Amino acid sequence: MSTTGVEIAPSVLPADFSRLGDEVVALEKAGVDRIQWDVMDGRFVPNLTFGPDVIAACRPHVSVPFEAHLMIDDPDASLDRYVEAGCELVIVHAEATRHLHRTLGRIREAGAKAAVALNPATPAVAVEDVLDLCAMVLVMTVNPGFGGQDYIATMEPKIARVRRMIDEGGYHCDVEVDGGIGPATVAGAARAGANVLVAGSALFRDPQGLEHAVSELRERATASRRA
Ligand code: DX5
Repeated sequence: MSTTGVEIAPSVLPADFSRLGDEVVALEKAGVDRIQWDVMDGRFVPNLTFGPDVIAACRPHVSVPFEAHLMIDDPDASLDRYVEAGCELVIVHAEATRHLHRTLGRIREAGAKAAVALNPATPAVAVEDVLDLCAMVLVMTVNPGFGGQDYIATMEPKIARVRRMIDEGGYHCDVEVDGGIGPATVAGAARAGANVLVAGSALFRDPQGLEHAVSELRERATASRRA
């Protein structure tokens, strides 16, 4: 298994959109490792969220890295703007671009790290020939578009497959999971090989607060990777 450590990446989807600046400050104070912006265009997924200007407005308030999860059609048309907005990593969906290798290269040319997301029905082999361009592979554990959905545990063999491909190829590439990640599901995902955990509901809905939620996820993930 990769030596890359466990990282907690909150999704801002459940955040109070009327106070996003304050919300990202609270996330940084709670000890998150990065913040994931769920960019949705209402076409690739049946939901519409925010664009680069909202991300840019929040950028100056915190120093944690931003990553843009582009759940949009034709990501090539706008990926530069997310880099300019202050995202140091840009995630495109393998299903959203005709020329994935070229798109990943464009993200790197724009000065950001590149990552690929795989919807539940997309096999791990879809990233086999682009791992050399990737800083991360995101295995979706829900069908993208909404927070608060149930974790799809049948994605765990795919997580393991992606992790194996990375390790056998000698790539330094994180494996991220997103969707239904919480105290009851994080161990399975981490044991399968995920080291970057995206969570929205589990963090924002924890009655003991963000800090507790972040540390609990991190502890459970770390413990399960050691087991
Ligand atoms: C799906 C979204 C969600 C969100 C996290 O398109 O990307 O997965 O980030 O949702 P929770 O953690 O609430 O399942």
